[in-house]
Amino acid sequence: MSPFLLTRTLPEDATDAALRGDVLHGLTRTPKSLPPKWFYDARGSELFEEITRLPEYYPTRAEREILADRAPEISAATGARTLVELGSGSSEKTRYLLDSLSYLQSYVPVDVSESALTGAAEALLAERPALSVHALIADFTRGLALPGTPGPRLVAFLGGTIGNLLPREREVFLRSVRALLDPGDFLLLGTDLVKDEAVLVRAYDDAAGVTAEFNKNVLAVVARELGADVDPGDFDHVALWDRDNEWIEMRLRARSALTVKIPELDLVVPFEAGEELRTEVSAKFRQDGVRTELVAAGMELTHWWTDKEGRFALSLATA
Ligand code: AVJ
Repeated sequence: MSPFLLTRTLPEDATDAALRGDVLHGLTRTPKSLPPKWFYDARGSELFEEITRLPEYYPTRAEREILADRAPEISAATGARTLVELGSGSSEKTRYLLDSLSYLQSYVPVDVSESALTGAAEALLAERPALSVHALIADFTRGLALPGTPGPRLVAFLGGTIGNLLPREREVFLRSVRALLDPGDFLLLGTDLVKDEAVLVRAYDDAAGVTAEFNKNVLAVVARELGADVDPGDFDHVALWDRDNEWIEMRLRARSALTVKIPELDLVVPFEAGEELRTEVSAKFRQDGVRTELVAAGMELTHWWTDKEGRFALSLATA
């Protein structure tokens, strides 16, 4: 098995410093909030994989349907020799693309998690020994530099994860992606779509309570990593549709007045009874809005594909 390259552009302690900064910043302002990236420790990643199999959570199935139907068109439209995947392709979505990109020579998975990258790279190389894999340990929301690989390049950002970014953050992110692309390169972007509020809320508040456990897990991460004395059982899971911003919000609501002590940050955080901590936004999109955001970043929307039920979309954009 040809070894794969692994480049670390994040210092080893970056995650710890980032978590401390995010907790200090997010829990000392009103309303309190934490960035959703902290959901994904080993337990959180397991819970998310479980979420993708829930009957209420349609985005993964919908995106998989589009990829299965449209991967040949994506290959023909791009002729991509390099696939860059933001958020490493531990999932089967990557395989659809790798299987269908007829000219592919190089795969560049990008993730903050070294274990996710290593796992994905080894699995893919076992199946595709001729593929050149260059994994990047990087936080792609904070700018990115890509290794030299054969063009045209297709940068894929799937799953609807762009919805986790607030509008201003998306603007900055899309501009940073545009800066990576040479003429003739492409972006493949997965976006969940605006739809009936009840369908959206159910997808983030499933009957089995898996999403509730996923949401509360961020408190377990803060407790373990920063020695915080916080009990997830003291909070209720909240999922609501913000119709003005057209995004789902996940929050954790304090069941009673309580304080969270975080000795490592020399911090005591008071919660009033019923006070809510925002843990994630998941924006839902319309075609016009996606086109406008891509154009603002200097790209052009060339293809818009949805699943048969019109729940989710893949956009192909050129630099
Ligand atoms: C992985 C960010 C796309 O926003 O739908 C799933 C995460 N949160 N259920 C999403 C998530 C609650 C998911 N993304």
